[in-house]
Amino acid sequence: MKKIEAIIRLNRFDIVRDALADIGVKFFTLQEVKGFGLQRGKQMVYRGSVYDSDYIARLQLNILTTDEKVNGIVDAILESGRTGEIGDGKIVVLDVNQVIRIRNGETADHAV
Ligand SMILES: Nc1ncnc2c1ncn2[C@@H]1O[C@H](COP(=O)(O)OP(=O)(O)OP(=O)(O)O)[C@@H](O)[C@H]1O
Ligand SMILES: [Mg+2]
Repeated sequence: MKKIEAIIRLNRFDIVRDALADIGVKFFTLQEVKGFGLQRGKQMVYRGSVYDSDYIARLQLNILTTDEKVNGIVDAILESGRTGEIGDGKIVVLDVNQVIRIRNGETADHAV
């Protein structure tokens, strides 16, 4: 099992969500995150306020999935999340030891 953590632009969320739904991924955890990427420290002006260029709210999607579905999900996020401009975000793939569905105790691939 794997966990995919994808930090994406807020304004790509609808497109990414639809791309994931198209390949059958309808479940994920979503959280708003802030951070810095490579351009840390460079400032930009957006709607009259000055921000460090990467310090913009983004969304992190966390998806638990079986090993064989990882590549398809990553490709879908790459395609749907990309604008080609700096700050498109990051995808991280992690090994997961165990997933347990609380309702019925199902584990591993049965639980995702
Ligand atoms: N090495 C990292 N470790 C942890 N979080 C990161 C890292 N790089 C980027 N992030 C997170 O991802 C967000 C978006 O990163 P961003 O897309 O700017 O990455 P980047 O490596 O700077 O690529 P780009 O050159 O396309 O901007 C950052 O605001 C930060 O929250
Ligand atoms: Mg960046």
